[in-house]
Amino acid sequence: MRFYHTSTCHFLAKLIVVLTWGILCVRAVECIDYEAISCRKHTAFLTDFGGKGGGKTSNTEAFRKAICELSKFGTDGGTQLIVPLGKWLTGPFNLTSNFTLYIHQDAVLLASQDEAEWDLIPPLPSYGIGRDAPGPRWKRHHRWSRSRMVTKFRQGQLKNTRPYLIEIMFSDHVQISNLTLINSPSWNVHPVYSSFVVIKGLTILAPIKSPNTDGINPDSCSNTRIEDCFIVSGDDCIAVKSGWDEYGITFGMPTQHLIIRNLTCISPSSAVIALGSEMSGGIQNVRAENITAISSESGLRMKTGIGRGAYVKDIFVRGMTLQTMKYTFWMTGDYGGHPGDHYDLKALPVIQGINLKDVVAKNVTIAGKLAGIDGDTFNGICMSNVAIELSEHATNLPWNCTNIQGVSSQVSPQPCALLSDKKTDCPFPTDTLPVDKIQFQTCAAASCHRLKDSDISS
Ligand SMILES: *[C@@H]1O[C@H](CO)[C@@H](O)[C@H](O)[C@H]1NC(C)=O
Ligand SMILES: *[C@@H]1O[C@H](CO)[C@@H](O)[C@H](O)[C@H]1NC(C)=O
Ligand SMILES: *[C@@H]1O[C@H](CO)[C@@H](O)[C@H](O)[C@H]1NC(C)=O
Ligand SMILES: *[C@@H]1O[C@H](CO)[C@@H](O)[C@H](O)[C@H]1NC(C)=O
Ligand SMILES: *[C@@H]1O[C@H](CO)[C@@H](O)[C@H](O)[C@H]1NC(C)=O
Ligand SMILES: *[C@@H]1O[C@H](CO)[C@@H](O)[C@H](O)[C@H]1NC(C)=O
Ligand SMILES: *[C@@H]1O[C@H](CO)[C@@H](O)[C@H](O)[C@H]1NC(C)=O
Repeated sequence: MRFYHTSTCHFLAKLIVVLTWGILCVRAVECIDYEAISCRKHTAFLTDFGGKGGGKTSNTEAFRKAICELSKFGTDGGTQLIVPLGKWLTGPFNLTSNFTLYIHQDAVLLASQDEAEWDLIPPLPSYGIGRDAPGPRWKRHHRWSRSRMVTKFRQGQLKNTRPYLIEIMFSDHVQISNLTLINSPSWNVHPVYSSFVVIKGLTILAPIKSPNTDGINPDSCSNTRIEDCFIVSGDDCIAVKSGWDEYGITFGMPTQHLIIRNLTCISPSSAVIALGSEMSGGIQNVRAENITAISSESGLRMKTGIGRGAYVKDIFVRGMTLQTMKYTFWMTGDYGGHPGDHYDLKALPVIQGINLKDVVAKNVTIAGKLAGIDGDTFNGICMSNVAIELSEHATNLPWNCTNIQGVSSQVSPQPCALLSDKKTDCPFPTDTLPVDKIQFQTCAAASCHRLKDSDISS
C-alpha cells in the first residue's frame, strides 16, 4: 500500500523497538495470531510511543509518531503496531506502507471530540468540492461520536465536509477486517483511487436516521472484495461510486472488478447496494451475491442523472433474500445533486447490462420502479427467477417502468411490458477476478505489553 507520510521524524524507531522488547516483555506475554494478506517482520506497541489508555488522554501524537517512525521499516519487512486492550482516545492519523494497525479485540479507539484535532484536507479531485460544503474537508478518523458534527450538519452550520471514518487513498493491497465501526459522522469506509482492497468481517452500526452514514463506498477503485459484513445504516449499506459530474468525468477513474458477497444489511431509508449517484468515472463489472436484508428501502438502487456522463455496465447480482422492503429494485434517472451549476447537459450516462437473478423478497410495497432518462434508455436489464411477495400496503401498480429496456423470465408479480418475457437465465460471470486470488495467511506476534490499570479502566 502507499500512503502519505511526513518526512520529519523525531525518534530512532529501531532503538525504541529493541528497548521495548527488553523491558516490557517481563510482565505479560500473550500470543496474537491473526489472518492477514501480508505478515510483518517487526512488532511495536502504541504504548512504546507514549500512548495512554483510559480514554481521557489524546493519543493523536502517539499514533502519528509511531506510524512516522515505523514507516522506516517499510523496506525491511514492515511493522505491526499493536493497540493493546484498553480505551484509546485519538484524533485522525495517516497510515503508511507495509504496515498493519492491529487493534486488540478488547481495545476501543475513541474519536476526540475536540474539533481543533481535526485538521483539514483538500476535497477529492474527482468531486471538485466537498460534499457537505464547498471548502476543504475534515480529515478521516477512526471513530467519532455522531452528536456534534451531525447536529451541526442538520442545522446547516457546517463550514466543512464531515470526515469519513476510514479512508484509504491511492493505495493497493489493503486489508480492512474484523472491526466494529460505530457512529461515524458520515461514510464509514471509503476506499478511493485504490486497488486490491479486501474488506472482510466488518460490523458497521450507524443510527438508522443518521444522514449519509453509508457503510462501505468503493470509489474509483479496481479489484475490491467486500465479504462477510453486517451493516446497519442511515444511508446505503454499500454505495459504489466514481466521482461527481465534470470533476469525475475529467478524473476518469472507474470502479471496476468489484465483488460483494455475504452481506447483511438494514437500511430503512436507503439501499442495500446502490450504484451512484456519483458515477462519473464509470462503474463496470460488479458481482454481488448472497445478499440478505431486512427493513430496507430498496434492494438494488441505481442513481444517476443528466450531467453525470460515463456509464454503469455489466452489473451482476444473484442470490438476494429480502424482507420488508419499500422497493425491490429502484432506478432513478433524474437523481439531483450537482457540484455546481455548470454541469454538462449533454453528459448522459450509459446504463447497460444490469443482471439480477435468484431473488426472494417478502413484504414489499413496490416490486420495481425503473425510471431511465428521456432519450437515454437504460438498456439490457435482465431479471430471472425473482419472486416478490407484495405486502398488504402495496400499490396497484407493482412495476412502474419508463425509458428502460430489457427481458424477464420467471418473475412475479408479472413485470412491466418493457421487460419483455423471454425464457432466459440472466448471466453471472464464471471467471475469477484477480482480487479473488488474494489469500490470507496466519501471522503471529508475541504480544508483550505491560498492562496498567489506567489502560483497562473506563
Ligand atoms: C476474524 O475473526 C475471526 C473470529 O475471531 C477469525 O477466525 C478470523 O481469522 C479473523 N479474520 C481476519 C481476516 O482477521
Ligand atoms: C514494501 O515492501 C516491499 C517488499 O515486500 C518493498 O518492495 C517496497 O519497497 C516496500 N514499500 C515501502 C514504501 O516501504
Ligand atoms: C496525512 O495525509 C494528508 C494527505 O491526505 C496530508 O495532508 C496530511 O498532512 C497528513 N498528516 C500527517 C499527520 O502526516
Ligand atoms: C457471512 O457473514 C457473517 C457476518 O455478517 C458471518 O457471521 C458468516 O460466517 C458469513 N458466512 C459465510 C458463509 O462466510
Ligand atoms: C452463497 O450461499 C449459498 C447458500 O447458503 C452457499 O452455498 C454459497 O457457497 C454462498 N456463496 C458465496 C460466494 O458465499
Ligand atoms: C411488513 O412491512 C410493514 C411496513 O411496510 C411493516 O410495518 C410490517 O411489520 C411488516 N410485516 C412483516 C411480517 O414483516
Ligand atoms: C411512474 O413513474 C413515472 C416516472 O417516474 C411517474 O411520473 C409516474 O407518476 C409513476 N406512476 C405511478 C402510477 O406511480
